[in-house]
Amino acid sequence: MHKKHKEVTVSLRLGDEVPDFTQESTEGPISFHDWMGDSWTVLFSHPADFTPVCTTELGMLASLKPEFDKRNVKVIGLSVDPKDSHEKWAKDIAETQGSELNFPLLADADRKVAELYDMIHPGADATTTVRSVFVIDPKKKLRLTLTYPAPTGRNFDELLRVIDSLQLTDNEKVATPANWKDGDDVVILPSISNEDADKLFPKGYKELKPYLRMTPQPNK
Ligand code: BEZ
Repeated sequence: MHKKHKEVTVSLRLGDEVPDFTQESTEGPISFHDWMGDSWTVLFSHPADFTPVCTTELGMLASLKPEFDKRNVKVIGLSVDPKDSHEKWAKDIAETQGSELNFPLLADADRKVAELYDMIHPGADATTTVRSVFVIDPKKKLRLTLTYPAPTGRNFDELLRVIDSLQLTDNEKVATPANWKDGDDVVILPSISNEDADKLFPKGYKELKPYLRMTPQPNK
């Protein structure tokens, strides 16, 4: 949980249950934990409405929505601007990016959520949020955080890649190597003996070192 200790904000850590909140959005008030339900969730912040990089990011996410749906992932954005501003900006996103906003944008004008999730980094900017990403699993546990600076738009394909890895490695005794993408070979967890690996991985595996054994992705 997010805690304050002697005025020092402690950031959320992987494995923590994410804090709940209720906040206004472009799709009406959202009670976060209820809204997430049994889905995975991507919560992301962007610095401000009517800014160029954010416009491209929201358009890109809207066009990738079917990819998130396929993985049972809900998407929700945030900026510290009011709902009427978000609604006006949404028209620009549709016009310039060719995709209508198809997920809610939190209208966090009072910064309630931005502060709860430590999205404002005063050393970078005292008033707007950095580009934070939180990937949250169906048990409401934080599984990934990314923090990008304001001038650098995020790569949302990377987000899908990590979600593929998390969903695979939650279910199989494997981990995913550098630059892995869905369908590539994976590594067998070092805690699995060769005897168990023989049973668990019927497609076989290549032992490069006792701790480095490659096998075809088991769920393909
Ligand atoms: C933006 O478009 O969000 C942006 C661009 C440059 C600096 C900061 C933000």
